Amino acid sequence: MKTTVSLFALALGVACISCVDNSRFDMDIPPVVPGNAGGNGQEKPVESNYSEKHRPQIHYTPVANWVNDPNGMVYLDGVWHLYYQYNPGGPDWGNLSWGHATSSDLVHWKEEAVVLRPDNLGMVFSGSAVCDHENSAGFGRDAIVALYTASGEFQQQALAYSTDGGMTFATYEGNPVIANSSMPDFRDPKVFWHEETAQWIMCLAKGWSYGVELWGSADLRHWDRLSEFTIPDERCNKGQWECPDLVRMRFNGHDKWVLLLSVNPGGPCGGSGTMYFPGEFDGTVFVADTRDDYPLWVDHGPDNYAGVTWSNAPEGRNVFIGWMNNWNYAGASPVSPWRSAFTLPRELTLIEKDGLATLCSRVVEELDGIAGSPQPVNGSFDAGDAYKLSLVLPTGENSRFSLSNSVGECMEFVYNASSRSLTVKRNSRTGNTAFADLFSLPGVNVPLGCAGSATGLDIYVDQSSVEVFASDGSATATFLVYPTCIYDRLDAVGLEATVTKLERIW
Ligand code: FRU
Repeated sequence: MKTTVSLFALALGVACISCVDNSRFDMDIPPVVPGNAGGNGQEKPVESNYSEKHRPQIHYTPVANWVNDPNGMVYLDGVWHLYYQYNPGGPDWGNLSWGHATSSDLVHWKEEAVVLRPDNLGMVFSGSAVCDHENSAGFGRDAIVALYTASGEFQQQALAYSTDGGMTFATYEGNPVIANSSMPDFRDPKVFWHEETAQWIMCLAKGWSYGVELWGSADLRHWDRLSEFTIPDERCNKGQWECPDLVRMRFNGHDKWVLLLSVNPGGPCGGSGTMYFPGEFDGTVFVADTRDDYPLWVDHGPDNYAGVTWSNAPEGRNVFIGWMNNWNYAGASPVSPWRSAFTLPRELTLIEKDGLATLCSRVVEELDGIAGSPQPVNGSFDAGDAYKLSLVLPTGENSRFSLSNSVGECMEFVYNASSRSLTVKRNSRTGNTAFADLFSLPGVNVPLGCAGSATGLDIYVDQSSVEVFASDGSATATFLVYPTCIYDRLDAVGLEATVTKLERIW
């Protein structure tokens, strides 16, 4: 296994020579823990009351250890399953496995046993899971079938299945289901059922080759390559492509498709970011709309990466969650014993704005279940564990406001009426920024694109994050922050604001 790992590092090293930065995969990878799917118990148990400094109170985090991408999310029988990239053995990237949490309301989460661990094909990178209602794969009606990247000497696609509602998985003896012995980057399979052509479709990202391949299958085991999406626009080809998701959405009364695609580096604030491309998909080929404003960002902040949507969500909902971090500094995040959280789950919709398809994200309505009643605010307030701040900005006037705490740490927001944009200062005044050179950001530009005389902002503030939503959802910006204690003072001259306390989920 050691050989496999170092060959993998070597392959990536070669990619680095051709002027690409794969350094985050180049770190010392600890030897993988061999084992088959499922099982837990090789790690020392760690306990938590979820009250450590910076511990998120309304966002899921595992008790301990490293996480990155959310992956394989699937809904079944009232349970939202959240699987994710996880190192069961420590606080750094490596030994990638699939951690697991469950929820009945997308708000309160229970950490479950690790479901997939590295095996002789390599580490268990990102992927997806579907509910096989018609037993197309032969593992049983309603089996949950996971497709993921086995990352060893090469990145290959592998299958695992669960016949107990997603609590444990067995790896398929016919793995890999898509072999690869040439491409350095070929990963993060996201699978969905395409009704019109009666087949499963898989999207796969090709990293530094800037392509998303689409594959088709009748049974989830045998796959044929259908097409490849590329975009000859260098603004979209600045970093490696990862974690694609082709999502069917409603738009002006008909179906439209949106490709979500994470890119690193080259994100809106440097480092990681997630682009989207509205377009059409005919069961074989995805064609992005022709427009001149690419890249479009799912989120304008630095800390929303590798997000994809839940499979099999009820009522055709498109529920998205991202990794709330950035490869620029994730490995140095000053938190322990866990490392990294996910964004609040968000409902995605597509609206027409200035004649163009525009993605909107809003926090799922289930969060109202932990919300108190809005209280008018200006000055100090009782922040509780976490809260939502809602403000009304008159769009025709410049304005500014800030959030701060009793030790004087402060995050500033400046609205510019002529550009209709908000500048958010995630600088050294916000708290601890010294742990990584690239963490401090003097001014992040969030275009609000607002029309009318006033626009609303909803800002969700937790112990170590600030998530900004223009209230029609068409602009969002997600920030990690590490203040000594939560911000509990608003200074907003001439702006109407309310605070709604959000109860901790633990
Ligand atoms: C994205 C990513 C994926 C990969 C995983 C490895 O953050 O690089 O492309 O599958 O993380 O942990």
